[in-house]
Amino acid sequence: MKKILPVYLRVPIIFFAVFLAMEYFIDSGDRPAFLKYPMISVFLAVFLFLLIAIEMVVAAVDNVTYHLLTEEQRRQLEEAKEVKITDSKLYKKIKKWLVKDRPIEEEGELLLSHDYDGIKELDNDLPPWWTKLFYACIVFAFIYLAKYHIFGHDDQTKEFETEMAEAKLAVEEYKKTAKDLIDAETVTLLTDAGDIAAGKAVFQTNCIACHRPDAGGAIGPNLTDDHWILGGGIKNVFHTITEGGRDGKGMVAWKGTLKPSEIQQVASYVLSLQGSNPKDPKPAEGEVWVDENAPKEAGAKTEEAKTVAQN
Ligand code: HEC
Repeated sequence: MKKILPVYLRVPIIFFAVFLAMEYFIDSGDRPAFLKYPMISVFLAVFLFLLIAIEMVVAAVDNVTYHLLTEEQRRQLEEAKEVKITDSKLYKKIKKWLVKDRPIEEEGELLLSHDYDGIKELDNDLPPWWTKLFYACIVFAFIYLAKYHIFGHDDQTKEFETEMAEAKLAVEEYKKTAKDLIDAETVTLLTDAGDIAAGKAVFQTNCIACHRPDAGGAIGPNLTDDHWILGGGIKNVFHTITEGGRDGKGMVAWKGTLKPSEIQQVASYVLSLQGSNPKDPKPAEGEVWVDENAPKEAGAKTEEAKTVAQN
């Protein structure tokens, strides 16, 4: 029988199949595996070398054997080589199993008596590949029915929901580690001494020119009293520092200079100064800020404070 593929196609095809398989199965991130892991390159080079070596050895052995053959055997070999693939026994067997066609000579037996204006009909069997597929589908349908509708295995909707829930958890987890993902909605008050100290450092470098080192207020308002122009509480203060104050008042947006995590720290530091009563503070500006989300009692107390402040 003739070889299906000549050697100059066989070697590259086998090599690339192995190459693609390695790239597919080895997880190497965004870079190709053979670049990321030099061992893979070495392996592929050795593999290619061996492949060529084997081809050469086989060809050489063939050659030697050929010379050892008798005239008769050589003739047989040439004949065997001449046989086409479509004439091989295996090919015929597979074809029969899949198609089961009848030779054209038997057509007479298959002819039906139908005759439509000279067009006749043959009564061929259904091709076995088709009927086998059909039975397989029926079996599959029963398995499917049992799995999803009787034993209640997760269907697509359920799988989707589970995956979404998992993804949500992963996002939460990620947000915890990614400090700079906070915004005015998600920011929380930091109380850790380290964070407050970091916030103080940011404050001393950037803010004292206008708010004074003790935050008692100069160009900018007093940040230690309970009166706020732009709203108190971590969310508002974070927002003011990030986006700046009202136009033309002098408080710039700090989001270009400070990272969200730094703004969170300095905002927490500022809030830690509440009621620190620095000397000669700037008179209160704005209104007493009441946290709507605070527990009832605390709210009532601030109400009291407000009335006292008004009197
Ligand atoms: C150039 C002067 C200047 C600098 C520097 C400055 N601020 Fe201000 N800040 C102001 C002014 C003026 C206001 C009032 C804004 C308004 O009325 O809208 C203000 C308002 C604020 C408020 C809101 C106060 C309130 O009553 O609502 C906070 C909080 C604040 N600043 C924090 C900071 C922090 C933190 C820094 C440093 C990162 C800083 N500021 C740097 C001038 C400044």
